[in-house]
Amino acid sequence: MDFAEESIKELGYIPVKESVGEIDYVAEIKKLKTEKNAVILAHYYQDPVIQDLADYVGDSLGLSYKAQETEADLIVFAGVHFMAETAKILNPTKKVVLPDVNAGCSLADACSAEDLAEFKKKYPDHIVITYVNTSAEVKAISDLCVTSSNARKIVDSVPLDQPIIFAPDRNLGAWIQKETGRDMVLWDGACVVHEAFSMDKLLAVYKEHPKARIIAHPESEAHLLKIAEYVGSTAGLINYVKTSPANEFIVATEVGILHEMQKEVPHKILIPAPAKENNTCACSECAYMKMNTLQKLYTCMKYELPEIQVDKAIQERALLPIQRMLDIS
Ligand code: 13P
Ligand code: SF4
Repeated sequence: MDFAEESIKELGYIPVKESVGEIDYVAEIKKLKTEKNAVILAHYYQDPVIQDLADYVGDSLGLSYKAQETEADLIVFAGVHFMAETAKILNPTKKVVLPDVNAGCSLADACSAEDLAEFKKKYPDHIVITYVNTSAEVKAISDLCVTSSNARKIVDSVPLDQPIIFAPDRNLGAWIQKETGRDMVLWDGACVVHEAFSMDKLLAVYKEHPKARIIAHPESEAHLLKIAEYVGSTAGLINYVKTSPANEFIVATEVGILHEMQKEVPHKILIPAPAKENNTCACSECAYMKMNTLQKLYTCMKYELPEIQVDKAIQERALLPIQRMLDIS
């Protein structure tokens, strides 16, 4: 084990010895991809430079399918921890690495397996449906998983008289509850990025662009979803913009999505929904997603660290609700 590997294990982060300017990261990453038979899977919220290096860019559901079917030896997950962990659960014999092991998610943090197990005791007749934005331990005590692109379909697949615990996103849960009229108890978690939008600022933008369509991710708050013309996952939002006859859109989700969206519709006007407080940009950014940098992507591929590990018993149990979801989707 060399100095870098030792430090990563001891310190929990990658010491960056190589400085910007000395190394052509893009060229090196491409080289490492071939040398190591690696696949780079990136979420739409990643930095554009990382998205452009990826073999596949997608939403949580699309990334899960790709992780499960890949023939690559090394899965490099440019996303957040729960996504890389889901990849490992789906394809446990592969090595899965994440550029920054601390790239978490406020939703996953809002629901521990211990708390969910206690909550379940209060509702013994309910089945547990969890959003994929959770830890492997939480998935291991869930009956079904959903992503934002299939939540409606998965809930519809459950018998009508079956009550449901839905965790951890109260906004996605409330939206599905409203759409389906189902008997659902909601966990009280939220995404810090999608709860940061300012309605006042958004309406001011709309006044300036009255022909724009407001579109939103279902992790957004109910008052925003109510005025949105379309609600959907990141992949759903991109598809809507592509197929809609409209030319202007106000997009209420993490701003990284605009990179792929603009590539798909170069002539359309895309306006990021404004956040309540933001001094650097008029949008909402996920600080966790942005922890992955080009430099960290390079060191992560070079040293194959930090590696995502999941306990075998947890992996086997957590696979069941994810596989049920994939089979229904
Ligand atoms: P998608 O599944 O729509 O890509 O959403 C993932 C996510 O974390 C949204 O904040
Ligand atoms: Fe989690 Fe929200 Fe970031 Fe998505 S945008 S990874 S839900 S904190």
